[in-house]
Amino acid sequence: MSKLNVGIVGLRRGRGFVSLFAAHPRLNVAALCDLDPATLADLGAAFNLPDSALHTDYDQFLAAPMDIVMIATPIRFHAEQTIKALQAGKHVMCEQTAAYTVEDCEAIVQAVKQSGRTYMMAENYCYFHYVRQWQEIVQQGKLGSIFYAEAEYVHEIEDLLINEETGEYYWRHERPPIWYCAHPLGPLLTLMDDRIVAASGSHAGFHKRPEQSDHLGFLDMQVGLFRTQKGAIIKIARSQVAPRYPHMVYYSLYGTTGYVENGRDGSNTNGYLWIEGETPDDENGHPRADVIHCSVVDPDAPEEAKHGGHGTSEYYMIRDFLDAIENGTRPPIDVTRSMDFTIPGIIAHESAMSDGNWRDVPLFDW
Ligand SMILES: NC(=O)c1ccc[n+]([C@@H]2O[C@H](COP(=O)([O-])OP(=O)(O)OC[C@H]3O[C@@H](n4cnc5c(N)ncnc54)[C@H](O)[C@@H]3O)[C@@H](O)[C@H]2O)c1
Repeated sequence: MSKLNVGIVGLRRGRGFVSLFAAHPRLNVAALCDLDPATLADLGAAFNLPDSALHTDYDQFLAAPMDIVMIATPIRFHAEQTIKALQAGKHVMCEQTAAYTVEDCEAIVQAVKQSGRTYMMAENYCYFHYVRQWQEIVQQGKLGSIFYAEAEYVHEIEDLLINEETGEYYWRHERPPIWYCAHPLGPLLTLMDDRIVAASGSHAGFHKRPEQSDHLGFLDMQVGLFRTQKGAIIKIARSQVAPRYPHMVYYSLYGTTGYVENGRDGSNTNGYLWIEGETPDDENGHPRADVIHCSVVDPDAPEEAKHGGHGTSEYYMIRDFLDAIENGTRPPIDVTRSMDFTIPGIIAHESAMSDGNWRDVPLFDW
């Protein structure tokens, strides 16, 4: 099987993908793009790429002989870069979230439709090993009908919002926390095989950094409440400034016959699983959950999978994307699913900024 040529734009987060793709048996790194010439030169040298493969201009980069574009730039560039790549006939894998506005999301859906190319959002948390293990449990019906789920994604990244010494703002300063909802929401919707149809939002304000109240990234904590198509409720809490160490992503799901959750310190922790009729009672005859380990690494994955990033998750994510391209099928996080994971956060923020009332969440079916 001949290798597919891939180009990567945005070489900070993208650096990991360059290294993953360069070692990948099904891929060849054909071109790189970044606004910063020093970053570009550094990676070009590290991966033995000729100068002709290094671009600071995105349009010139798109003219390189590539089958796939991997987009890992700040989110405000995702929509335009995605649409241009699709129009240039490339398959696209784009970092999450897909875009900042519903209009841009819709434009991406249209561009995928018109291009006939494969689009996948790189929501790697859906591929955490423990999420994949839970998926088997849920698919066997062991939790019954899931009626409530929640996730907290609390990651203090003030140093990525502002340079405290110079006062320079970085791109995440403008990103309200709940806009970045794909990590908490994606795995829950995947497990529930469900979609969000309505959202409401609230936030506490700028208690921690009152002087930054013009910069929505510094909102203390945003909470989104969501109603799903199947009639369940989801709650998401998100913060980029809350002093919570270690940072964590926490998930729990409650069904009619069981529940599952990871530990509150996030991944690679012990969580709980209880299944009616299966989990043994404690010594006093009372129901008590089993302790389960929640690892991001699949111990049975091939050795090369462990170098993929975020445990084995990125290896499996890339595998699904390449399989979809080669088989002409839709990837698991296709453009519809990408918008299912992106748009609810946009709508929850809209609600939080006005009356906190419930709003419909548009679904883009295709
Ligand atoms: N899935 C994950 O676990 C995960 C983790 C970190 C970041 N991300 C995502 O990766 C993306 C990038 O984040 P980051 O932390 O690397 O940001 P960053 O600001 O650290 O780096 C962005 C890079 O892109 C370059 N760049 C900026 N604008 C560009 C443009 N218009 N064209 C070409 N290059 C441009 C910059 O020079 C820089 O090298 C974001 O979408 C973010 O959400 C995902």
